[in-house]
Amino acid sequence: MVTRPLIDGFGRRISYVRLSVTDRCDFRCTYCMPMDMEFLPRRDVLTLEELDAVASAFIARGVTRLRLTGGEPLVRKGFIELVNSLSRHIGNGLEELTLTTNGSQLARFAEPLAKAGVRRINVSLDSLDRERFRRITRRGDLVPVLEGIAAAREAGIAIKINMVALKGLNEDEILPMIAWCGELGHDLTFIETMPLGLIEEDRTDRYLPLTEVRARIAAHYSLSPTAERTGGPARYERVTETGQKLGFITPLTHNFCESCNRVRVTATGTLFMCLGQEDRLELRDLLREGGPEALDAALDTAMRLKPRGHDFVIDRTAPAAAVGRHMSMTGG
Ligand code: 5AD
Ligand code: SF4
Repeated sequence: MVTRPLIDGFGRRISYVRLSVTDRCDFRCTYCMPMDMEFLPRRDVLTLEELDAVASAFIARGVTRLRLTGGEPLVRKGFIELVNSLSRHIGNGLEELTLTTNGSQLARFAEPLAKAGVRRINVSLDSLDRERFRRITRRGDLVPVLEGIAAAREAGIAIKINMVALKGLNEDEILPMIAWCGELGHDLTFIETMPLGLIEEDRTDRYLPLTEVRARIAAHYSLSPTAERTGGPARYERVTETGQKLGFITPLTHNFCESCNRVRVTATGTLFMCLGQEDRLELRDLLREGGPEALDAALDTAMRLKPRGHDFVIDRTAPAAAVGRHMSMTGG
């Protein structure tokens, strides 16, 4: 039993941490970042030891699920060593160690990840068409990503595909993606664009509400809602015909904050209490100056700071980005 669980001012127990290991990425997805994205100076980024210390501090306080994100986590040097080190917590408080990846380096890393105890990963995949994939990611190549997904599957890692629904860009691939995932046994989650950080285009132009996505799916399949919640913004439904589970992440059309069980840490050690708010605590200098005790005490402060919820809006009258930082900084 955890002696001092992390409980915030609204009585929510924090059991899930998303830790970004780098803000860098080898892709430049149009909805995520500008082409000439400026990354953080390397000296500001937590070392592998510091990332381990932050994760371990949370696990000691009852966090049972840890997701490593980026940017693209697999471009961080030494990432596998970090995963290997963190795997000591699996079964000792930590129930699940996962990551979110764009898949570009996955073919190389699938086997070591599986060996380190990673059982499930999320892979971002917005199109199965090579040319379109290139257009959305601006730098990505679909072929190695598909090879990476296949390698992970062979290594026994369960895969959830994340597809951002983009009006006029990949809406015609919603049904084909369901079929593809169904065939290979991957879970699939649709995501609405979120107003995080400035990009070149107006996100309103690409915003496709998932209510509409769901309606289109429902014209072809019968969907039945499941009670399953993970404490995050996803809702799940089951495709009756195939038994497939579909997730819908709708931060803009639904409120999920009451059941929020998570916090996020950036690659520079900024602890964000909410994806959609500015409330934060800088852990890096605390850790560098005060060690693990200072870090542990900071988690109590953080619980007092966690806000009730987000105020996302995406419309023409609202500022272009509700939150100034990009998803690649806070971690998906
Ligand atoms: N809105 C919605 N999804 C985003 N992602 C990155 N930036 C945004 C955004 N502004 C997605 C990625 C990945 C997941 C972690 O978040 O495609 O699948
Ligand atoms: Fe990289 Fe993911 Fe952002 Fe695409 S969405 S640029 S893969 S961090």
